[in-house]
Amino acid sequence: MSFEVRAASEADRPEVVELIREMIPGVDANARVTWLYERNPAGRALTWIAIENGEVAGCTSFFPFRLWLDREEVLGALGGDGYVRPKFRRRGVGGLLHDASRRAMMDHGIGCMYGAPGAMNLTPLKHGGSREVGHVARWVRPLRGAAIGLRSSLIDRLVRGILRPRFVPYLEPMVRGDARIDEVWRKASASIRLGAIRDATFYTWRFIDAPAHREPPFVIMHQGQPIGACALEIMNGGKEIRIVDLVTIPGAWNSSLAGISRHAAETEAHTIDIKLMAIDGRVRQMWRAGFTERDSKPFLVMVPKDGDRRFLDPQRWFYCGADSDLDSLE
Ligand SMILES: CC(C)(COP(=O)(O)OP(=O)(O)OC[C@H]1O[C@@H](n2cnc3c(N)ncnc32)[C@H](O)[C@@H]1OP(=O)(O)O)[C@@H](O)C(=O)NCCC(=O)NCCS
Repeated sequence: MSFEVRAASEADRPEVVELIREMIPGVDANARVTWLYERNPAGRALTWIAIENGEVAGCTSFFPFRLWLDREEVLGALGGDGYVRPKFRRRGVGGLLHDASRRAMMDHGIGCMYGAPGAMNLTPLKHGGSREVGHVARWVRPLRGAAIGLRSSLIDRLVRGILRPRFVPYLEPMVRGDARIDEVWRKASASIRLGAIRDATFYTWRFIDAPAHREPPFVIMHQGQPIGACALEIMNGGKEIRIVDLVTIPGAWNSSLAGISRHAAETEAHTIDIKLMAIDGRVRQMWRAGFTERDSKPFLVMVPKDGDRRFLDPQRWFYCGADSDLDSLE
């Protein structure tokens, strides 16, 4: 038996919703499709589905992202929602779907597809033409004594006092279309060679409009001026705070991290963490801000045949959480 792979159309929406429901149990699949597939300001999602004897076996999607490449806006796509129904797995369907998506890239003007996929999707993506161009690492900073194994509440408080940075920037909630985020991006973009355009339009869609509302965005302020933008997520029952995304004006990375740390230290969280390209985190000397490199996973990029090879350069990429997870937990 052979599989037919084709681009999904509006008529396939109910089937795509059903596949997402199976893929991410508990998610409001309809709200996810509306937000992520239909209301992305960079363009509607491109979805491919595989069919065997009239039965839908699986799907994969491109979510268009406006990328900043050497001071120019180009179109890329975050790869995501790759799913093959269990009974059809390990017969090459995943690979076929990625293959079809790659062949369509030129027609859609998409320069690259990128992401840090789950383990099961690595080989199928590589079969489809994706390249491993680096690793995304998680960087962790303790906030309280408990995280480094101290038990006494007195010591806990003391260590917390020592670890908490002082005289640092503070966070203010972002509002829809926040001009301060545009100002941050205008300055930040001077030092980003390749990465998603993190302006107010993007941040509003990605963090304010996301249906789960779990990753609130903030403007990082210092002396009355915006110096950065971030989104935070409370994880593991409040014990951890994830810096889902962070972008700052040049020279304000460490002070922004200090501002976030101070904000996080007001909560019960024991640690904060952030995901970055491993290479980028090292260049930024994350240890100076108290962060230690932990686990990592491969970062994959797919370009069309004869595509622009700058997308395959790990030194260029600025990757952070706005490019991942996509609000999957509700
Ligand atoms: C990822 C997924 C879409 C792949 O679909 P598929 O049709 O089985 O993929 P293919 O048949 O093209 O490739 C199978 C290969 O994937 C890899 N793979 C499959 N299951 C795996 C697992 N549990 N752990 C590690 N690798 C796995 C293997 O290399 C396998 O090759 P093999 O069968 O020769 O060992 C499917 O497994 C799936 O829906 N998983 C659950 C959702 C998911 O993880 N999505 C990815 C999010 S990034």
